[in-house]
Amino acid sequence: MFKTLLAVVFVSVLTLVRSAQTISGQYDCIPAGAYTLCQNLWGEFAGVGSQNSTLISTNGNAATWQTNWTWANAPNNVKSYANLLHNTAKGMQLGSITTAPTAWNWTYVTESQGIRADVSYDIWFGKAQSGTAATSASSYEIMIWLSGQGGIQPVGSQILSGLNIAGHTWNLWTGPNANWQVFSFVISSGEVRNFDADLNEFFQYLIQSQGVASTQYLQAIQVGTEPFVGSASLLTESFAVSVNT
Ligand SMILES: *[C@@H]1O[C@H](CO)[C@@H](O)[C@H](O)[C@H]1NC(C)=O
Ligand SMILES: *[C@@H]1O[C@H](CO)[C@@H](O)[C@H](O)[C@H]1NC(C)=O
Ligand SMILES: *[C@@H]1O[C@H](CO)[C@@H](O)[C@H](O)[C@H]1NC(C)=O
Repeated sequence: MFKTLLAVVFVSVLTLVRSAQTISGQYDCIPAGAYTLCQNLWGEFAGVGSQNSTLISTNGNAATWQTNWTWANAPNNVKSYANLLHNTAKGMQLGSITTAPTAWNWTYVTESQGIRADVSYDIWFGKAQSGTAATSASSYEIMIWLSGQGGIQPVGSQILSGLNIAGHTWNLWTGPNANWQVFSFVISSGEVRNFDADLNEFFQYLIQSQGVASTQYLQAIQVGTEPFVGSASLLTESFAVSVNT
């Protein structure tokens, strides 16, 4: 019995020690509770620098994580999209979604002058129930930019401004990328560092006003950051999303 107790104590200590995990490789990913945390340094060779992402903790459907990056050169090229991907909030038809509550609070713990980066949701729709982000199965990529610093722009061109959705005002950009269409909702001014919203309001707007078919399937919800140049430490104090049908 004493041995069992010791073993339990030892395992708990191990769990504690292992609870903050950092990944550094170009395509490293680690399990993060209800999510998967990935580095995704897809554009790193356009410039020079490095990036590391740390899973700090998980709590039910919420996660706390941090990504530190420093990138130089090619100021118009995205270097990466370190992100948290929900493992199961996917596979439902848009028309069957009733609510998709999300809460994300984040901050730049450190930030060099003049960074070029966004802090964004990246959400994927497709014709098939299965299908992962940014693949031949993708029909639409929906970005929601809570921050865009340094004069960076989304894919395509701006088609609307002053759009009120989920309690904030957005500019809407659209254009093609690979085999899918991109819609980017860009916060009209400043940043939203404490975002609490129903993502279904964005989905319903796209169905009602932008011709997206309600038969499309939600294939992935990711949140993260696209750095171009500069250095920063971006801390997500808490992120959660769920999708109800
Ligand atoms: C990331 O940057 C923060 C702020 O400087 C620091 O506290 C943390 O230790 C860094 N993490 C890694 C993995 O370097
Ligand atoms: C990332 O980690 C590597 C070592 O693992 C380190 O050399 C590099 O400076 C780190 N980058 C940042 C931006 O913290
Ligand atoms: C961030 O969200 C978490 C969970 O909702 C909350 O406990 C924390 O106080 C929030 N932090 C800030 C700065 O709003």
